Amino acid sequence: MLQNNMSKLTEAELSRVKDICTQYPAKRASLIPVLQDIQDSFGYLPEGAIDRLSELSDISANEIYGVATFYTQFRFSPPGEHTIRVCQGTACHVRQGVQILNEVEQQLDIKAGETTTDGKFDLERVACLGCCALAPAMVVDDKVYARMTVKKIASVLSHYATMEAE
Ligand code: FES
Repeated sequence: MLQNNMSKLTEAELSRVKDICTQYPAKRASLIPVLQDIQDSFGYLPEGAIDRLSELSDISANEIYGVATFYTQFRFSPPGEHTIRVCQGTACHVRQGVQILNEVEQQLDIKAGETTTDGKFDLERVACLGCCALAPAMVVDDKVYARMTVKKIASVLSHYATMEAE
């Protein structure tokens, strides 16, 4: 089983995991920064990378998952091409933030925290985007959509859906 999971990563990818691990001599104390570096390198935490890390660190894969799932910063599937963040902070909440999130979820047929099956979009619910004067706000990749309305969502999504992958 371990071999199968590890075989999903190429030799080069496995050695990337090893290179990251060797930068942190204290394995257990460095678990979070090691996981952050793996995620920076792969865009997420691949199963094979966790198995390799377990092998190199003598920390069980279950324990690594236990730590990683505690932190919302870690993801376990490849990121979508575009990341949508819909604000649910107070300023946005009182200006239809919930309806906007619900509509995006419905149009993409996913829930916050998920990725569309075609890999185009990730959807995240966030506490505050730091631009409360623009509430309700939504961000796609780095672009802020201010004073969003349920009506505007379809055109924003179709803009990104038809964009060519880089
Ligand atoms: S509450 Fe939404 S941007 Fe601050």
